[in-house]
Amino acid sequence: MSSSTTSTTPVGVYDSGFGGLTVLRELRRELPQLDYVYLGDSGRAPYGGRDVDTVLDFAEQCVERLFGEGCRVVVVACHTVSCVALRHLQQRYGSAERRVLGVTIPAAEAAVAATRGHIGFIGTSRTVASHTFRTEVRKLSASVQVSEIAAPLLAPLVEEGWEETDIARLAVARYVGQFAEIDTLVLGCTHYPLLERAFREVAPAGVQVLNPAPEVAARFAAWRARYAALAPEGAGRLRVLSSGDVTRFARHGARFLGEELPPVEHVGERRGRLALCPNETEPTGQIVRE
Ligand code: DGL
Repeated sequence: MSSSTTSTTPVGVYDSGFGGLTVLRELRRELPQLDYVYLGDSGRAPYGGRDVDTVLDFAEQCVERLFGEGCRVVVVACHTVSCVALRHLQQRYGSAERRVLGVTIPAAEAAVAATRGHIGFIGTSRTVASHTFRTEVRKLSASVQVSEIAAPLLAPLVEEGWEETDIARLAVARYVGQFAEIDTLVLGCTHYPLLERAFREVAPAGVQVLNPAPEVAARFAAWRARYAALAPEGAGRLRVLSSGDVTRFARHGARFLGEELPPVEHVGERRGRLALCPNETEPTGQIVRE
């Protein structure tokens, strides 16, 4: 599958950084014939400790960039943005021609289907403070119990590429140890599937570890069957945009996507908007603005 800049109607996939590539991986497995544009805002990640207004500002800029790239549907593949800003994004940008979809409802549905009565949910501080996942579970089942734990160290460790280290394993164990008597543990951050082995090692016997990404992809496929005009078939092309270091993004991102990334295109914030910055290299030393 190759990268391309030809005019298509790709599906936009957005995350604060690398994590949403774990969702894109499942989307491409489910619907490989579609074209995708992925935007990882890694220059400004992690989002998880940021205030709500900042998350909304970043989310608006990223979603606008993806619509600017010709997408008519954007999948917000980030639990933090999905839990805090999805309704805002849908109200601001959603129409018969444009849609914004999230990951929280598929995650809640997968968890309710899997649990025997007590779900543990682990995510970023902002995600957990929103209680959006718990709210969605309540809509599906009044009897299911939800315990939520914030794990602010985990996404930065994964962004740094440290998911196979003892530090990461110890951090996972310390967070998981805070849950009591859960039967299902939901990985409520798209970075955490890279830590899945560590989660499985420390989860008490009988606790199933649930990565919602396959359910997100299945739900998207069902949605797309109804709204094929918004995400028509392409040729399996992929473009990747990042606000961070593009070389590092391409190298590190392959582990999240499970395949090599095409050359990553740089986007940067320019006067409150996220703009494509082709061939731009970061200057060094003192910078004086005109
Ligand atoms: N991957 C994102 C999520 O699913 C957030 C990680 C972060 O930027 O803090 O919540």
